[in-house]
Amino acid sequence: MNDDLRIQGAVFRGRPVRFQVDDQWIQSYEGETVAAALWACGIRHLRSSPVMAAPRGMFCYMGLCQECVVLIDGKRETSCSFPVSDGLRVSLLKTP
Ligand code: FES
Repeated sequence: MNDDLRIQGAVFRGRPVRFQVDDQWIQSYEGETVAAALWACGIRHLRSSPVMAAPRGMFCYMGLCQECVVLIDGKRETSCSFPVSDGLRVSLLKTP
């Protein structure tokens, strides 16, 4: 796991958890959102726009813009407002 983008040092983090993003497993911490965990691991391209297939990713981080929508356990969810937990299955909505 790449922790380079998380604040290091005197930070309280929740218990480590693992969840799946397409075919890879991501380690995160309880209390983080799916979007924060993806960002920390270097995953920025979450979906593609419907008309131009342009890359889309996190923008507002507060559940308003819908740019961070992914499938979580088969349902469309805003990743910036969905907490991580062990065993989540996240599918990115990118077109090839
Ligand atoms: S980043 Fe805007 S709704 Fe998630």
